Amino acid sequence: MESTAIANANIALIKYWGKTDREANIPAVGSVSLTLSHLWTRTTVAFRPALKNDRLFLNGRPAGQQNLDRVVRFIDEVRLRCQTGHRCEINSINSFPTAAGLASSASGYAALAMAATHAAGCPLSLEETSSLARLGSGSAARSVFGGFVELPAGETARPPVAVQIADENFWPLAVLVAVTDDAPKFISSRAAMEVTQRKSPFYDAWAKASVNDLENMRSALQRRDFEVVGALAEHSALKLHGLMMSSRPGLLYWNAGTMAVIQEILKMRKDGLAVYFTIDAGPQVKALCRREEQAAVADRLLALPGVRNLILAGPGPSARVEEQS
Ligand code: DP6
Repeated sequence: MESTAIANANIALIKYWGKTDREANIPAVGSVSLTLSHLWTRTTVAFRPALKNDRLFLNGRPAGQQNLDRVVRFIDEVRLRCQTGHRCEINSINSFPTAAGLASSASGYAALAMAATHAAGCPLSLEETSSLARLGSGSAARSVFGGFVELPAGETARPPVAVQIADENFWPLAVLVAVTDDAPKFISSRAAMEVTQRKSPFYDAWAKASVNDLENMRSALQRRDFEVVGALAEHSALKLHGLMMSSRPGLLYWNAGTMAVIQEILKMRKDGLAVYFTIDAGPQVKALCRREEQAAVADRLLALPGVRNLILAGPGPSARVEEQS
């Protein structure tokens, strides 16, 4: 009745933004991500007959009502599939700042899907775990798999299934996460996505262009063409943030530190270092480079006053259950 699972966060190289079905959490555009080492969520779920309500602790503290409600809805789905009526206690710990645009909902729901189904006695395949995790958060469907992962677009009648393009040993890239603010973001990606989809005049163009971006990213990954992967990732990130800025109200996740990191990365490229950036829904910047250049890139980023913390990562593994000792 109790199980612990670990899942790693991911960065989107081609971004998911917008849904065709909000209830079933179905993306309107396909996305490609890299699962990250060193950034993970570890979640323990214990179903207890004596409990009257589900309980949720995040990083050791009782979670707020909004997080709890979302998790209870998710666990209701697990109860349905696993045919149990018991309530549970959930303890979830992140190795990185929570809700600050570092994909905590991705690793969070991936770990929760795996821990909860194991604890309820109905373990699923990785593919099924990923489809379940998607109901919690779109990006969580990708975090169930290690390495490079694609989550296609879908519709209510044809929900998408995430696929691993290549595992974590395929290409030893480095990802440097420059944390410029570790406070929770001012608007969740879920809410921001909804505003943008309804209120940006450019949303349809964004969705249309993503088809080509995906195609190009898939083929660049297969060739291990770092410059093309980097340039496409940067393009998708800038396009996403431009899209958010164009909605009403305009949404801007960046701070002065975000801008400083972007400019430093552009300077590094001028100086001959192959480094590219991507930014999800938050002010943190992720620098992407080859492992040989990680130390040089880290030195330059750490010298910036706006960088509060630098997390060094690479390709990370699939979600897994922690064996009890
Ligand atoms: C910018 O997966 O957090 O990180 O499905 O509503 O939970 P919900 O949204 P979420 O959005 C992620 C947005 C992004 C891009 C990406 O990860 O592809």
